[in-house]
Amino acid sequence: MGSSATIAWSPFCLTSSFNRRFAIILLCCMLFPSALSGPVYSSISPNFTASYYHYIDTSGAFLASRNGSFQAQIINLKPENRSFYLVVVHVSSRAIIWSANRNTPISESSEFRFSRDGMTLFNDQKQPIWSTPHNLAPVTSLQLLESGNLVMLDGANNTLWESFDLPTDVIVAGQRLNVGKSLVASNSDGDLADGICSLVVGNNDAMIRWNGMNYWELSMAPNAVRNAWAVEYMVMNYTGVYLMGKNGAQVVIRIPLHSSDDVVDDPSAFRIMKLESSGVVSVLKLSSGGSSKQEFKTPDDSCRIPSTCWKLGYCTNGGTCQCAPGFHSASSSSEPICVPTDGSLALPGPCNGSQPNITNIKYSALGRDVDYFSNDFSNPMLQNVNLTACKNLCSGNCSCLGFFYSQGSGSCYVIENQIGSMATKMSWSTDKDRLGYIKTIVVGTQIGVKGSKKSDFPVLVAILLPSGVMVIAMVAFLIWLRRRRIKRRWSRSMNSKLGRGSSMSAEEEMDFVSIPGLPVRFVYEELVIATESFKTQIGSGGFGTVYKGTLEDGEDVAVKKITCLGAQGRREFLTEIAVIGKIHHVNLVRLKGFCAHGGQKFLVYEFMDRGSLDATLFRADPVMEWKERYNIALGTARGLAYLHTGCEHKIIHCDVKPENILLHDKSQVKISDFGLSKLLSPEESNLFTTLRGTRGYLAPEWLTSSAISDKTDVYSYGMVLLEIIRGKKNSSPQMRSANSRTDSNRGNSRSSPSSVESGQRPIYFPLFVLDMHEEGRYMGLADPRLMGRVASEEVEKLVRIALCCVQEEPNLRPSMANVVGMLEGVMPLGEPQLESLNFLRFYGRRFTEESRLGGDDEQNELRLYRQPTGTNTSSSYNSLSYMSSQEVSGPR
Ligand SMILES: *[C@@H]1O[C@H](CO)[C@@H](O)[C@H](O)[C@H]1NC(C)=O
Ligand SMILES: *[C@@H]1O[C@H](CO)[C@@H](O)[C@H](O)[C@H]1NC(C)=O
Ligand SMILES: *[C@@H]1O[C@H](CO)[C@@H](O)[C@H](O)[C@H]1NC(C)=O
Ligand SMILES: *[C@@H]1O[C@H](CO)[C@@H](O)[C@H](O)[C@H]1NC(C)=O
Ligand SMILES: *[C@@H]1O[C@H](CO)[C@@H](O)[C@H](O)[C@H]1NC(C)=O
Ligand SMILES: *[C@@H]1O[C@H](CO)[C@@H](O)[C@H](O)[C@H]1NC(C)=O
Ligand SMILES: *[C@@H]1O[C@H](CO)[C@@H](O)[C@H](O)[C@H]1NC(C)=O
Ligand SMILES: *[C@@H]1O[C@H](CO)[C@@H](O)[C@H](O)[C@H]1NC(C)=O
Ligand SMILES: *[C@@H]1O[C@H](CO)[C@@H](O)[C@H](O)[C@H]1NC(C)=O
Repeated sequence: MGSSATIAWSPFCLTSSFNRRFAIILLCCMLFPSALSGPVYSSISPNFTASYYHYIDTSGAFLASRNGSFQAQIINLKPENRSFYLVVVHVSSRAIIWSANRNTPISESSEFRFSRDGMTLFNDQKQPIWSTPHNLAPVTSLQLLESGNLVMLDGANNTLWESFDLPTDVIVAGQRLNVGKSLVASNSDGDLADGICSLVVGNNDAMIRWNGMNYWELSMAPNAVRNAWAVEYMVMNYTGVYLMGKNGAQVVIRIPLHSSDDVVDDPSAFRIMKLESSGVVSVLKLSSGGSSKQEFKTPDDSCRIPSTCWKLGYCTNGGTCQCAPGFHSASSSSEPICVPTDGSLALPGPCNGSQPNITNIKYSALGRDVDYFSNDFSNPMLQNVNLTACKNLCSGNCSCLGFFYSQGSGSCYVIENQIGSMATKMSWSTDKDRLGYIKTIVVGTQIGVKGSKKSDFPVLVAILLPSGVMVIAMVAFLIWLRRRRIKRRWSRSMNSKLGRGSSMSAEEEMDFVSIPGLPVRFVYEELVIATESFKTQIGSGGFGTVYKGTLEDGEDVAVKKITCLGAQGRREFLTEIAVIGKIHHVNLVRLKGFCAHGGQKFLVYEFMDRGSLDATLFRADPVMEWKERYNIALGTARGLAYLHTGCEHKIIHCDVKPENILLHDKSQVKISDFGLSKLLSPEESNLFTTLRGTRGYLAPEWLTSSAISDKTDVYSYGMVLLEIIRGKKNSSPQMRSANSRTDSNRGNSRSSPSSVESGQRPIYFPLFVLDMHEEGRYMGLADPRLMGRVASEEVEKLVRIALCCVQEEPNLRPSMANVVGMLEGVMPLGEPQLESLNFLRFYGRRFTEESRLGGDDEQNELRLYRQPTGTNTSSSYNSLSYMSSQEVSGPR
């Protein structure tokens, strides 16, 4: 260990070209179960308040059912929008069975309040956005029953209110859905908001609706058994779905889930009946970990659901979509739109009250086979009329978009407000000969224009032909090329979704089939074009070199070429990419896609136009203002808190430093390189993965045998915070006059090290901070270049938080969620424990000795952790100071 050159090289990086000071140690970044540290109650009394941040350590859970099967939780479902919801969750399957504010998400600091009046959710402006009725008798407790029912009770334990009465899109075993009540599907799988489909319990049956129009009835499931009584409510259990009548004494409609002699698969499993966003009603058996088995589904044929194919799409063969006869797909946009094949016609615009001029309306006939979903579920608008009458009915009302007319019965059915997809006629349909007509508007004036253009065309060509033919050919070629690219892109994203790939080997194909959630896959040539053959290098971060690029659609991206990777299987690579790709948070850099080209691997990230924090913070001019520094501290803390507690699996960054904090625009702060340490692991095991980190931000426990945890990131964050306060690397020495301890000039900001006079000595900045903290002097710690343009109480706050973060004992360090709370002022500041900061004195002594020996900052930094030969230091720190390359690289 004589030379000061490399003490911490990654064994994987040694072979690669770039020189980074990297340490690799074992054991990190595995998928820890999230720690429960907040108080999760089993019963709540009035005057209780909570927000996501109060309960971030429990992922927002504050109330649990008696044996813990269910939790009431404030949960984030759309991380990029910070949309939080109050929900009831089935813990082991993560299934959301109820939500209070599905249409009005709140933020992570918005408040939930339970008082004697009931429950209320407030938005950030402290206005109530959801509440239970206020006319309930005084409420004395809030409980979550073992059935998943959230109830409010009075003093005598009578139920005053229950969530089972206000279902969202799910009912669970034992929950009743009374006549007149409904389930409303969510917008999409990731979005709880009300969608377009609903299920309504009626006297006769349960109807499934799209935009208020029936498209299916529960009793139409093939194995349904029906009796004659009036329906009172719907229930389900593991044996089936039931519509009950006669006060629950009679089954009116029964849909068995299993035939009578089947052995029921695990009767005690948790099952829900759900109206899915696709419009299907299903019964799901949920298992821990989120997997589910569909035990029942209706309608079976997705062509019976009006949203399966787009507007005017014609659905055949259980889900193949094409435009209905008379229409063709305008494929310029990503979502196909069906427009009249006859170019002189257009679909009517939105109905805004003004009736169209009848003479401009033309109807486009749909053909014999095509029928509309609502025809068999609604009564005809008119009966015993002729076609003209039906047509006139539709023409006279701009909310009518088309009609079906049956010659035999003289029935007239209209399509109102919105058109869904078309399907073939049902075998049991009563009106087999009805024909459909879609309303279109003649776009009068354009006919003439088009005609004249057409007639001009040959003339133009004749004139231009000799000279312009090359130009025209080139333009046409370019347009064709571009279209082809767009098409390729479209089919590529489809392919990665569907697991089909035209140019992939069979092995690759398999990967795509079985790895869900993979982000967009780019073709290598596309990246070459985007980056102009990797022309502009904008950084060399962990794992490789980063280039700027611009995608075809004009969006700027950062393309990271990964050079520092062991020989890792492509499957592992893809799996990790899928995990990273799913992490979305405003303070985390978004992975847009990836590319695997032969042995080369690329990651495509959103582009951050201001580069990394170190470039801006340590730059001489302009000086970064205090307010921005504070925002960066907060944004970084939020991003880390999300990595630690907000995602499905805990993710430890392992390399928090200014180089990995990126800035964009005026105020965006995002952390990069998270999750990548997982990519390094040569031998993936359930227990440990390789850890990396950068010296200077490295927590002491790296060098001892104690476990690496999220608190390791907290330490690094604390070190970064000190650099943010000072605007300078911690590794560059702070000058302090020898008598400064007796200097009584409080708030003196002139202790800056601009001149090295006699009587001044270099000191390790974190140690200087500790000394100043003990003396209660904070102002002198802020960047002197700010010339006092700082908020003094904020300097003190950041200093104290930073010291709490860098305590040697990991358990004493606050969680990142608590750091966020302290920065936001919703949590009291912690008190740094001086015993746990004494190690800074040891580091400081090393530092001063090395600085005296001269050498640049770099070398000081390198020597910081090393035991100088021939010096006797207190043995308790030997293990900290000494790092053999063996220890550093860890067992492999
Ligand atoms: C709750 O707060 C209200 C006023 O804020 C107070 O009148 C009431 O006594 C409190 N109830 C309990 C149980 O603390
Ligand atoms: C715990 O929950 C399960 C599932 O609902 C239930 O079967 C069991 O009886 C409960 N145990 C207790 C002690 O309440
Ligand atoms: C969510 O964020 C995306 C992009 O940031 C935005 O386009 C979308 O409108 C947002 N949705 C809501 C409900 O705020
Ligand atoms: C209400 O229930 C709780 C337990 O859930 C019990 O401790 C309490 O005595 C009950 N109160 C009354 C009035 O029954
Ligand atoms: C399931 O529910 C139906 C309707 O309430 C009931 O008749 C049946 O006995 C239940 N089956 C079981 C096993 O609980
Ligand atoms: C109603 O819509 C038509 C066509 O979409 C448009 O020309 C007209 O200006 C609209 N009228 C009003 C009052 O918005
Ligand atoms: C309707 O359009 C026709 C032809 O475009 C025109 O002759 C007629 O005057 C229009 N009628 C009204 C009421 O605007
Ligand atoms: C259609 O019926 C109306 C009366 O309802 C009648 O006036 C009209 O002549 C009929 N048209 C045709 C083409 O038979
Ligand atoms: C158009 O049809 C809708 C739906 O049937 C109806 O509510 C409305 O009154 C009609 N408007 C006119 C002008 O007939």
